[in-house]
Amino acid sequence: MYGMKAILKGNSKNSRKCFGHGYLSGRYGHMDGSYRMCIRCVRMVVFLSLVTFMFNSGPELLWLFSTGRMPPLGDSELLSRGLTSQGYIRKVLPPSWPSVSKALLEESSPVYRRELLPKELNYSSLRTDFPTEGSEGGALKPWVIAEPVSKVLNSLARYSNPLNLATGVKIYVYDLPPKFNQDWLVDSRCNSHLFAAEVAIHRILLSSPVRTLIPSEADFFFLPVYVSCNFNTITGFPYLGHARELLQNAVQLISKMPYWNRSGGSDHLVVASHDYGACFHAMEDLAISSGVPDFLRKSIILQTFAQNKHHPCQDVDHIQIPPYVAPIQVLQRWPPPEQHVRNIWAFFRGKMEIHPKNISGRIYSRGIRTTIWRKFSHSKKFYIKRKKSEHYQSEILRSIFCLCPLGWAPWSPRIVESVVFGCVPVIIADDIALPYSHVINWNKISLTVPERDVHKLDRILQHVALKNLTVIQNNLWKEENRRALLYIDPMVKGDATWQILDQLARKKLAMSENLRLRL
Ligand SMILES: *[C@@H]1O[C@H](CO)[C@@H](O)[C@H](O)[C@H]1NC(C)=O
Ligand SMILES: *[C@@H]1O[C@H](CO)[C@@H](O)[C@H](O)[C@H]1NC(C)=O
Ligand SMILES: *[C@@H]1O[C@H](CO)[C@@H](O)[C@H](O)[C@H]1NC(C)=O
Ligand SMILES: *[C@@H]1O[C@H](CO)[C@@H](O)[C@H](O)[C@H]1NC(C)=O
Repeated sequence: MYGMKAILKGNSKNSRKCFGHGYLSGRYGHMDGSYRMCIRCVRMVVFLSLVTFMFNSGPELLWLFSTGRMPPLGDSELLSRGLTSQGYIRKVLPPSWPSVSKALLEESSPVYRRELLPKELNYSSLRTDFPTEGSEGGALKPWVIAEPVSKVLNSLARYSNPLNLATGVKIYVYDLPPKFNQDWLVDSRCNSHLFAAEVAIHRILLSSPVRTLIPSEADFFFLPVYVSCNFNTITGFPYLGHARELLQNAVQLISKMPYWNRSGGSDHLVVASHDYGACFHAMEDLAISSGVPDFLRKSIILQTFAQNKHHPCQDVDHIQIPPYVAPIQVLQRWPPPEQHVRNIWAFFRGKMEIHPKNISGRIYSRGIRTTIWRKFSHSKKFYIKRKKSEHYQSEILRSIFCLCPLGWAPWSPRIVESVVFGCVPVIIADDIALPYSHVINWNKISLTVPERDVHKLDRILQHVALKNLTVIQNNLWKEENRRALLYIDPMVKGDATWQILDQLARKKLAMSENLRLRL
């Protein structure tokens, strides 16, 4: 791309000079020495620029002109071709790198990436749910670029920021052996359970326009390790005991490339989408005593866990992300929230310890769920159930208030489900931080009830229902709230993955600003 900039710059500068003096408008016979010098100089610049340009972008352009498209993403074959035959990679990497990458590539199957991009789903109907804002906003098909050349050049210029982020970002996605990610997908829940953001973000980045295949030009590096899919065969719960080791092995592997060591991992992204995020443990006391793994201390952790007070598991650079709720179900299966008859006043379905004396009932949910069960399960206005149900989503669609008490951790997918199905979230989890609070005005779309007031829940909800329920519902049902909490694939402007990228773009801006101030 530098070469291209040189062409454009070189051309315009020289032609401005020559045109400015009327040189090129004259006939050749009238040329004097300085005319010829100027022409020669233009030719020289154009030639040099072309050489540089081909050197930098040759492989992409060859592909572009032979197929009319940008190189297909995630094609290991192309990547390895680029690595072995093209000078532009060799010149920026130490000689050991190609062999490392080859090892990484050989272990991973190229078929995987194709499988990762779901073809069977019809996304066009999704996109109509989310009208695009501006030409570069919504639905993206970034790699279909047709000739003529002027169009190609346009697209390449846009490549730096095709998503309208705060600034352009480029992310390199490591191509790790399947044991770190795709092998876990044999259990289909891995794709869809509440911790599945680790899979969704990986998949969406692979086909996104911010992805770069050239690590030396990346602003950030994504480490695709799925740690939450290790389901216990008996309880069905994900077991996190292996997470630290798996991540450490991945870091060891990528450390053979220069990028991790160069920054200590500080420009590397790791998803921690389970209970206590960067601590990689499901129980709070053990999470706190284990702490953030040392090797990840400098990295950027994308985590669902977040509190508004100090907590050792967020003692690390992190971006709070929403838990995963399958967007297909939300957007294709159900009409928008305002079109539903809501005949359940207050709804909760989930794990509850019903014996108040039971130790687990006092520890789990800090006893909140037990109180809810004891005080309100017999009330006619409350619809409170303990067993799983296949009607769960339609129940939320039929409800006015949805209780979101803490469980083991303060956050839960209930909050996302409530918003996307238009049921007013009643958040009962002291100190919880809510995702993307810089774009979602949670005060206007939800209620927060302090844990100590949970026994007064009926009166509190009654009060709100009388006073400003309609206002809250109208705020809640705005499309941008649903969009910001869903990992839509392919990404659209304003959705959950886009919000992550936008925060990364802001980080990049802040970093360059710091750098500028120091110089
Ligand atoms: C996808 O959905 C859109 C809108 O619902 C429809 O017009 C189109 O025909 C569908 N495409 C396929 C391949 O099913
Ligand atoms: C990065 O550091 C690790 C640990 O110090 C070392 O084993 C590895 O060889 C280094 N990688 C590179 C590319 O220098
Ligand atoms: C407490 O609840 C747990 C889980 O529901 C159950 O296994 C245990 O037997 C209960 N203990 C008592 C004392 O009721
Ligand atoms: C509800 O109404 C009260 C009093 O009118 C007001 O203070 C509060 O901000 C309103 N809440 C919302 C979410 O609109």
